[in-house]
Amino acid sequence: QVSWKLADHPTLPKGKTLALIVLDGWGEYKPDEYNCIHVAQTPTMDSLKQIRLSMRNKDLTVSFGWTSGRAKLVDIALASGKIYEGEGFKYISECFEKGTLHLIGLLSDGGVHSRLDQLQLLLKGASERGAKRIRVHILTDGRDVLDGSSVGFVETLESDLAKLRENGVDARIASGGGRMYVTMDRYENDWDVVKRGWDAQVRGEAPHKFTNTVEAVKKLRENANDQYLPPFVIVDENEKAVGPIEDGDAVVTFNFRADRMVMLAKALEYQDFDKFDRVKVPKIHYAGMLQYDGELKLPGRYLVSPPEIDRTSGEYLVHNGVRTFACSETVKFGHVTFFWNGNRSGYFNPEMEEYVEIPSDVGITFNVQPKMKALEIGEKARDAILSRKFDQVRVNIPNGDMVGHTGDIQATVVACKAADEAVKVLEGPNSTNRGRMLMRNEPSEINMIIDAIEQVGGIYVVTADHGNAEDMVKRNKSGQPLYDKSGKLQILTSHTCQPVPIAIGGPGLAAGVRFRNDVPDGGLANVAATVMNLHGYVAPNDYEPTLIEVVNN
Ligand code: 3PG
Ligand code: CO
Repeated sequence: QVSWKLADHPTLPKGKTLALIVLDGWGEYKPDEYNCIHVAQTPTMDSLKQIRLSMRNKDLTVSFGWTSGRAKLVDIALASGKIYEGEGFKYISECFEKGTLHLIGLLSDGGVHSRLDQLQLLLKGASERGAKRIRVHILTDGRDVLDGSSVGFVETLESDLAKLRENGVDARIASGGGRMYVTMDRYENDWDVVKRGWDAQVRGEAPHKFTNTVEAVKKLRENANDQYLPPFVIVDENEKAVGPIEDGDAVVTFNFRADRMVMLAKALEYQDFDKFDRVKVPKIHYAGMLQYDGELKLPGRYLVSPPEIDRTSGEYLVHNGVRTFACSETVKFGHVTFFWNGNRSGYFNPEMEEYVEIPSDVGITFNVQPKMKALEIGEKARDAILSRKFDQVRVNIPNGDMVGHTGDIQATVVACKAADEAVKVLEGPNSTNRGRMLMRNEPSEINMIIDAIEQVGGIYVVTADHGNAEDMVKRNKSGQPLYDKSGKLQILTSHTCQPVPIAIGGPGLAAGVRFRNDVPDGGLANVAATVMNLHGYVAPNDYEPTLIEVVNN
């Protein structure tokens, strides 16, 4: 039985409206032309100095999402062999005698959603335990790893599969596509993405057909990068797909991270499913690498038990009367709700919480609309603050990350400016900065989140989950940009391990609050206790320590 009551903070007051702003993909790095945050005009982030700290970002996969813990559990289960003793593996192995084992997931060593070495171990383990026919459905990455690296990963996988074939296992790649265009959508932004994957993986249908996957990827890369490769199927000499999913087959989605596998899990598992016409619904034994949604219990079967993520800060705060508003646009909505709450859908208490999702643009890459919905998110948060109906207003502003992942430097500069404007103040259409005369009654600026916090006497916490936009190139050890063999700059589309900022301020911040200097390892994990303090509570004992203290002058 959890005791939800938090102790009162000895000095910090309750009842101050707190804005918690997560700038996604916003790290700190030396100012040069590939640091888009430096190049962009970011007056708000430059000015937030009330109290400010650079936090370590050692563990770039944390992302408020507990990902690294999940990866580690899979590692342990594979290394010890426990994975093969669990209910999930038993369930899929019931199909090994007569059916095919299908493995679907992201093919890279990025370690954010999946890892190649885990796939390799699973292939080996399953074939040693009776899988006679295996089909791998790959999703190419280029987002958590360098663009173009897909070819090498496919070559590695092909040589592993060839070894299995030498040992009498009929093992092949059956289909593929780029992660952002095929299968790995999230938060139900665009079901067409999942459908494209379904058609290739389950029905064996795709606009592109190849007999060899390395060739497929090389060919399709002529018109798209790894993230956006169109769907393809591998066919035999009679043009017949080599591995559609059939009745009696087993399916494993081998990603450990949840957000981009939940949608496919629904399509594979739900009897009643109306998000797209599946056409063919084979009777399969399906298991996830882990369970992806703890509230929906989805999927019902999994190879590794997910970590218990309970007693999250959101649940504590709701139990202690902190009324919460959370908002982002679709592509990051779950980051402030589902992910935030420990891979759990829904509200803890609908009377205390309101979650607002702003629909993301669909069907474009975000460098085309780099401002994304930053303005709308800022406005929603501002209005929530001014309504005085909430004690915590939290947002994720996705621009630095989503545009940074495209590798488009110019667009990322625009993205960073838009994110900065959402934090505090947006230049109005007639701002003098844009060289136009200000007409009477036309606002030169539109107030956003921090302005609203100033109006209600509240507190702001501005931070980031990891870096991305602050460094857009691959570098050597001394920090010089790297070029490929043809002399082309090597663009970095992935997250970085640079430190991230945390700035706390606002009129509601009590005098004497400062950062402790005895938490040298402070990082994202310490933000929860810090925020609880700012709401007037002491965090539970087993939480990572707070970053702040109060000194009397
Ligand atoms: C993605 O899924 O887009 C990236 O792999 C991880 O990005 P995020 O942690 O910033 O969401
Ligand atoms: Co992020």
